[in-house]
Amino acid sequence: MKMTLIKPALTLENKDFSYPIYVHEDALLSVGDFVKQAISEKKYSGCIIIADENVSKLYAGRLKGDLGESLKLEIKLPAGETTKSITHLEKICEQILASGIDRQTLIVALGGGVIGDLAGFAASILLRGIPFIQVPTSLLAMVDSSVGGKTGINSAAGKNLIGSFYQPEAVFIDTAVLNTLPKREFKAGYAEVVKYAFINDAKFFAWLEDNKEKIFALEPQAITHMITTCCQHKADIVAADEKEHGARALLNLGHTFGHALEAENNYGPELLHGEAVAIGMVMAFDFSAHLGICSAVDAEKVKTHIDRVGLPTKVRDIKSLRGLNAEKMISLMFKDKKVKLGRLRLILAHAIGESFVADEVKLDELQVFLEKTL
Ligand code: NAD
Ligand code: GLY
Repeated sequence: MKMTLIKPALTLENKDFSYPIYVHEDALLSVGDFVKQAISEKKYSGCIIIADENVSKLYAGRLKGDLGESLKLEIKLPAGETTKSITHLEKICEQILASGIDRQTLIVALGGGVIGDLAGFAASILLRGIPFIQVPTSLLAMVDSSVGGKTGINSAAGKNLIGSFYQPEAVFIDTAVLNTLPKREFKAGYAEVVKYAFINDAKFFAWLEDNKEKIFALEPQAITHMITTCCQHKADIVAADEKEHGARALLNLGHTFGHALEAENNYGPELLHGEAVAIGMVMAFDFSAHLGICSAVDAEKVKTHIDRVGLPTKVRDIKSLRGLNAEKMISLMFKDKKVKLGRLRLILAHAIGESFVADEVKLDELQVFLEKTL
């Protein structure tokens, strides 16, 4: 059985692995063809869909129809960050094992970053590794979490502290599903979009500034260009540094500040991951300006852009974080995975599009900055 699949928008390729990333208005329709073709070539024996309840209701039906008998099990999980837990991991692993899998069973992770991270992690440990594909449905998952193979769950000690690097077999990005994504989630995902511009692409920042209206109106051409650009940036960085020994750390711009805010908020619904990253990126540029290594003009441009698209820019914008002080913030920041030999490493910037890994952050400077900012 030979089917014609749509052409991938790009391929993530390095010496150890290679996989296609499809970005298309109807990419969901290609998942069934991809799976059935691979089954006919004896690459997979069958598949399992994992989705949260919101996404399952909207999109699992379409996949199920196309997958037919190759679908062996469908798992529906509650929506939200708390699903990325050891409890849910255990439950789904037991459920999948009880269904009788082999090493050729494919997991289809259908959903946002929560499902992609959890299902990918389950795939990495079941039978010491079974294949999985990412079918991201939130903007955040399309431009960031579905590409690059970081999988994992949260622990009581912090976010994403249990996990693995485990690459998917393919990524199917169906841009049309963004029509049902709640606006607040779209904006949160946009924080990870503009992050690539802030890291190393000032031209992309200018394009985003010029195309804001089209993007937020979900104009298909603008959306496809935006998502493909982000995936290309991510693919380039991951191809060069899969395990985050170097350049991949740049993708954490705003995240050390942001993760501390999420932890202080107990990962509750008042602050989405992308919103925390948005505030974190403003803080990273403001701190860079405070240190005199970035112009105040660029720091202001970052803040203005984030504000104009309707994302929060200040810790004080979030009611539940109003009691946070500098000492607590620093102790939360030290839980970050980038802490090396007891030293805090932050992604700072010389300018928009010129971010870098700052290896030895001066804590007294950070304290002064946080006291002024929080
Ligand atoms: P999410 O998975 O919780 O999805 C957000 C909400 O949108 C959920 O309620 C979901 O049901 C709903 N939803 C998703 N797609 C929809 C659609 N098309 N229509 C209607 N509703 C839809 O959250 P997220 O923002 O996608 O992902 C956040 C998670 O991703 C965090 O846990 C974060 O740590 C992780 N993350 C991982 C990486 C990585 O590299 N692995 C990178 C960034 C973020
Ligand atoms: N989202 C950060 C990374 O994938 O490295």
